[in-house]
Amino acid sequence: MKNYVIESLPDYFKQYKKSIKNPKKFWDKVADENFVWYQRWEKVLNYNMHEAKIEWFLNAKLNITKNCIDRHLAPRGRKTAIIWEPNNPDEPAQHISYNELYERVGKMSNVLRDQGIKKGDRVSVYLPMIPELAVTMLACARIGAVHSVVFAGFSSSALASRINDSETKLVITSDGGYRGNKVLDLKSIVDDALEKCPTVEKVLVVKRTNNEVTMKEGRDMWLQELLDNAPVDNIPTIMDAEDPLFILYTSGSTGKPKGMLHTCAGYMVYCAYTFKNVFNYQENDIYWCTADIGWITGHSYILYGPLANGATTVIFEGTPNYPNPDRFWQVIEKHQVSLFYTAPTAIRSLAKENADWVEKRNLSSLRVIGSVGEPINDEAWHWYNDHVGKKKCPVVDTWWQTETGGIMISPVPFVTPTKPTYATLPLPGIQPVLMDDKRNEITANQVDGNLCIRFPWPGIARTIWGDHQRYIDTYFSAFPGKYFTGDGALRDEVGYYRITGRVDDVIIVSGHNLGTAPIEDSINLHPAVAESAIVGYPHDVKGNALYGFVILKETGETRIKENLAKEINFLIADTIGPIAKLDKIQFVSGLPKTRSGKIMRRILRKIAEGDFNNFGDTSTLLNPEVVEEIKAGRIE
Ligand code: PRX
Repeated sequence: MKNYVIESLPDYFKQYKKSIKNPKKFWDKVADENFVWYQRWEKVLNYNMHEAKIEWFLNAKLNITKNCIDRHLAPRGRKTAIIWEPNNPDEPAQHISYNELYERVGKMSNVLRDQGIKKGDRVSVYLPMIPELAVTMLACARIGAVHSVVFAGFSSSALASRINDSETKLVITSDGGYRGNKVLDLKSIVDDALEKCPTVEKVLVVKRTNNEVTMKEGRDMWLQELLDNAPVDNIPTIMDAEDPLFILYTSGSTGKPKGMLHTCAGYMVYCAYTFKNVFNYQENDIYWCTADIGWITGHSYILYGPLANGATTVIFEGTPNYPNPDRFWQVIEKHQVSLFYTAPTAIRSLAKENADWVEKRNLSSLRVIGSVGEPINDEAWHWYNDHVGKKKCPVVDTWWQTETGGIMISPVPFVTPTKPTYATLPLPGIQPVLMDDKRNEITANQVDGNLCIRFPWPGIARTIWGDHQRYIDTYFSAFPGKYFTGDGALRDEVGYYRITGRVDDVIIVSGHNLGTAPIEDSINLHPAVAESAIVGYPHDVKGNALYGFVILKETGETRIKENLAKEINFLIADTIGPIAKLDKIQFVSGLPKTRSGKIMRRILRKIAEGDFNNFGDTSTLLNPEVVEEIKAGRIE
């Protein structure tokens, strides 16, 4: 990343100012000087923030895999691109060089082509954290197919709805996966899902666990057999800047998941630029992001951002506490990781363990440590800084979203002084603005507001797959002319931002976005349930946990409540995934509602938190008596 490395605080301010004064010129130069293109763009940016129409680098031609692989072959072909660390520490790690990555992606691309996958076709990927996951995504990108990676913890119904929404032609999965002491049965989840997915023609299966699986004649094939016969060379498909690169589903506060669509050029430029600056990436760094590739963090900062910079990126199959709670620290020591990126929920759970687990490992290779996914509380920030960074490594608290494609607000290490719980300053090109509920801009300090972004940046998602109107309604309508993030934030006197949490009905549990509506929908599928409402409450490891209030039908239900609660959680695990299970379920006779029939979630949230004194204005409440009943029955 030439010329655009932020070197000092005055340099940050200089570059920031330049990027805001003339964003087109700024991104034009970043794109021009740091990537390979088949054809340059005719215009840098076209946009309309009311219609949510955003195009960057118009008519440019490229292939992201040429930038992530081919161009590195001459200068660093033998350098390790991917270190794969398996779940079991006794299984040897794999070091995949750029040369080898080229070969593996080339073969995989040819396999996909042989199976009839063409530019624009959708491929759903349901794999554990194994090298084939990265290889498959890159192979899709190489031939212009649109990958839709579905986190391998989602249930078969959640997988089916994502496959159907994207009208996927081919699915790639494995016979199983290892995570901690569990063996995941991925193929049978796919088999279940595909009962309801008419568009899927082929399923390619990676062998990982040797689980016994059923292979459906004419549909399912073992991937290795196809790879063995595939040629290596594959000429990348020439893609337009605005051709789709991938779809990634994220929860909404209402209805079905939103397939966020990212396109080729802007996404590549933005995640490569932010990777370089937010991690102070240097050629000999070993970089490790612990996220699952099934989330945006994995897409942008395990795969595309690091590889576009020619970095060595670690892919870890396991969990933080298997076989022991020093697994992260052992992997850092083993591979001499210098840049480390994880989530507050992992930090909080590891901070609960005996400090010896971290102290006895040699973490001296670390230079920069990062956090992502949810607000990092003061205590976790300090534990991370003291025990992992040893007060020598800047902590980069990075705020961003699936929709933003890359990091938006974050300290630049060795440049921006950090401040616990503050994501600090916007990166160049990003123009945050805080708005009050009356749509006025907040200029005062320390006032909580709705976080919006005033101007497009290259990494912003372009639409919701198949539903542009929903894209406009969700992100561009609440504050016309601006992108609304759904987050609350405040700004301190020096302009640092602190993210205070979601202001909509999305709850972040262990860093995973969960919409209340889809969970309520799945609870309501239970034959004994009449109505339900979900709220989040603070949890010392997960950040938030879920509390459900459930009204039963008056059918003389006699089963014991514990069994019903278990059934409800089974149902949630089955329709969404175990990550959405409720920690507490309280059976109630009614829910607090306004005269217009709207549930007053604010009251439920306060009750779940155990705060009975700050219900706010309850004058519009139709049924105050029910509040007393719910208070009395609150689950500790
Ligand atoms: O609420 C914010 C929270 O995570 C949401 C985005 O979730 P997702 O699309 O799954 O992407 C997660 C990884 C980028 C945001 O709207 N969030 C993310 N990072 C932070 C954060 N909240 C506070 N501080 C952060 N650093």
